[in-house]
Amino acid sequence: MITRSTKLWMVFVLIALVAGGFQPALAQGDPKQEQKSLYDRLGGLAPISVVVSDFIDALVVDAVLNANPAIDAARKRVPAPYLKYHVTAMVCQATGGPCQYGGRGMKESHAHLNITEREWDQMIARFKEVLAKHKVPPKETQELLAIVASTRPDIVMSTKK
Ligand code: HEM
Repeated sequence: MITRSTKLWMVFVLIALVAGGFQPALAQGDPKQEQKSLYDRLGGLAPISVVVSDFIDALVVDAVLNANPAIDAARKRVPAPYLKYHVTAMVCQATGGPCQYGGRGMKESHAHLNITEREWDQMIARFKEVLAKHKVPPKETQELLAIVASTRPDIVMSTKK
């Protein structure tokens, strides 16, 4: 039999649960923000396209990269807006956005450039500068660097420093 005092206890427990004790996840930061894709946390396609555009602009004038004759020749032959389009779609897709990258694979696109470790490090330094300029937070910066790092084995062809 449910007595009056049992009923009172049940109401009390229900209120305690609804009042917050039933939502332990909310106490540990903002789970909604953590569940968001990297694409959404970066602000979507518009900010991603701006960061990529600045990044490509920094690379095409970079003296260390252009000292490699194959990179210099490709830079003069391949339009920067074409690279911006493909790299934007790639970053959009890799971060969980709605785009589909339609360009060539990384090995095929870079094999003839004979990219060295030094040139790779230079590209990463330029990338970090652009992310800092756009105030990309540390967590998102690390995630973007990890995505770029995953392409390294297909892009760095020469161990020459
Ligand atoms: C030191 C590093 C890099 C250099 C010097 C470099 C340079 C270049 C150059 C010159 C091209 C045009 C090649 C050609 O068509 O003859 C190219 C293509 C491309 N690169 Fe890179 N790249 C580097 C790293 C990366 C990374 C890290 C990514 C992406 C995460 C990337 C994505 C692309 C894409 C999507 C294309 C176009 C592919 C296509 O034509 O279908 N590159 N890159």
